[in-house]
Amino acid sequence: MIDLYDIRYVRIGTSNLSHAIEYATRIVGLQLARREGKYAYFRSDNAAGRGGARDHTLVYFEGDPTDHAVGFDLRSASELDKVAAQLEKAGHPVQYGSREQCEMRAVEAFIAFRDPSGNKIEIVAKPFQTGERPFPARDAGITHFSHIGLRTLDAKRDELFWTTAMNARVSDWIGDAALLRINTVHHSLALFPSRYPGVQHINHQVRDIDDVMRSYYFLQEKGVKMVFGPGRHPTSSTCFLYFEGPDRMVYEYSVGVKHIDPKDEESYRPRRFPFAPESFCMWGSRPDIPEFRKESDAERARSAH
Ligand SMILES: [Fe+2]
Repeated sequence: MIDLYDIRYVRIGTSNLSHAIEYATRIVGLQLARREGKYAYFRSDNAAGRGGARDHTLVYFEGDPTDHAVGFDLRSASELDKVAAQLEKAGHPVQYGSREQCEMRAVEAFIAFRDPSGNKIEIVAKPFQTGERPFPARDAGITHFSHIGLRTLDAKRDELFWTTAMNARVSDWIGDAALLRINTVHHSLALFPSRYPGVQHINHQVRDIDDVMRSYYFLQEKGVKMVFGPGRHPTSSTCFLYFEGPDRMVYEYSVGVKHIDPKDEESYRPRRFPFAPESFCMWGSRPDIPEFRKESDAERARSAH
């Protein structure tokens, strides 16, 4: 089994890099760590309480907006070759990153492969930390990049992949879609039933609920389309706000995520929530996100366009 330690980054293509940089810094509130040609690197971790900050947690690059990759690191960096062999054996062809690709990701080494839905996954060894604290252009109160919504063409099949080939555990289900943890955080991956692969949303944790509400009014004033919330998830207990970014990528702020203590791993039982709006928000907020709706609603939305 592959022992993932944490989620490290998301890399997403964009047809308009300057716009994406403007959005990530002035709207989301990330720090532009550096720009290298067609690549822009963003930092989000405030090191306090996290044992250091990741060199970067988001990359926008000039390219296809549907081209997404997600990076994870390993509990033991020395296991990268073993992990590559395991994936190959399980039928997932693996590519090693070139020296240049490793330098671009600020890692010693990495492998890339696809999950059963076709999502591009990268596993990195010895990624760089930084001692620098982020100094963003907008104070959104972000403490760190925390999780993603990952599209799945078959939620049950992909749950099996992440929980058997990897060390992921189910924290809860909404319908058939699992919220998966790889460490104590309630979920680092939220599977989203979809017809195509890719990242569905990118979550940053903020310091407190005041930050969520401040952003609610800030985004409203800036004319940013908010698609869900403010609300509270009954699954992870977080207060949240979802809004739309470049190429309709959804961003989320949330606060108060539940942790599952290692001593409770054995006794923890995932809960199953029905696929209904109240399973996503216990305050009554209704999502304007096709993947959050019942399949029939999503179908109707698609056929309406
Ligand atoms: Fe989320």
